[in-house]
Amino acid sequence: MAFKDRVVIVTGAASGIGRRTAIEFARQSAKVVVADIDEKAGEGVVAELTEEGLDAVFVPTDLTVEADCAQLVATATETFGRLDVLVNNAGIEVTTPLHEMQEHEWDRLVDTNLKSMFLCSKHTLRQMMSAAHGGAIVNVCSVSGLVAWPGIAAYNSTKGGVLMLTKSLAIDYARHNIRANCVCPSIIDTPMTDVSNGHDDAAKAEKAKLNPIGRLGTPEDVAHAILFLASDKSSFITGTALTVDGGYTAI
Ligand SMILES: NC(=O)c1ccc[n+]([C@@H]2O[C@H](COP(=O)([O-])OP(=O)(O)OC[C@H]3O[C@@H](n4cnc5c(N)ncnc54)[C@H](O)[C@@H]3O)[C@@H](O)[C@H]2O)c1
Repeated sequence: MAFKDRVVIVTGAASGIGRRTAIEFARQSAKVVVADIDEKAGEGVVAELTEEGLDAVFVPTDLTVEADCAQLVATATETFGRLDVLVNNAGIEVTTPLHEMQEHEWDRLVDTNLKSMFLCSKHTLRQMMSAAHGGAIVNVCSVSGLVAWPGIAAYNSTKGGVLMLTKSLAIDYARHNIRANCVCPSIIDTPMTDVSNGHDDAAKAEKAKLNPIGRLGTPEDVAHAILFLASDKSSFITGTALTVDGGYTAI
């Protein structure tokens, strides 16, 4: 019941970490707004939650478009009467080496992974500040926002940006009782990881060995960290980057 009467937006909630996070929030009594560009899968998550008797709505959203992000925040507030938590989770991976990368690939990556977090945060901050009850923003960063992962320079760059966006939100909005933190997962077992491993289980098993704990992370592992950073149990924590990486960055 940790989130009873709290309203939570989760972006990229049709799949992977976002989907699991939406489910965990709803099971802790939050009213959840599922935002994603994938309408069929997003509606599917909401149908699953509704079947469990939980409160959720789907808002089809292209997070790279400001009008969509503004509409997302407006719909959340109109539907449930307030907004307490924003989880900026949606992201994509582009593995083209930097010297071969086209300008449009770079733009798509930066727009999806970083600009989307600016846009959703902007409209959420306005709502939280006008309501004067504060709130929490949790951004899904990556270990690659802390240390460079080989071969994905552009992706690493977007996650470095997410880290600094998080710290900046934390210091600029603390006086409005709005906290901002990020989680930094290493390799998590999601559809994104399946795609980047060419749906090859052997390649995935090799990757798991990079985590000292010896397994891939699960979407639940990340969701639990996100819920902690969004909850009152972390009320004195802001501007931090919580690694959820099986020890990857401890080496
Ligand atoms: N999987 C990992 O190993 C891993 C590790 C570290 C960080 N992350 C980060 O976690 C987050 C979630 O990743 P995942 O592995 O769950 O990925 P995923 O591919 O399973 O899910 C991403 C979701 O984002 C949505 N999305 C993409 N572009 C969008 C847009 N423009 N508008 C709205 N929705 C959009 C997709 O439709 C999808 O539902 C990402 O930010 C990713 O960078 C993932």
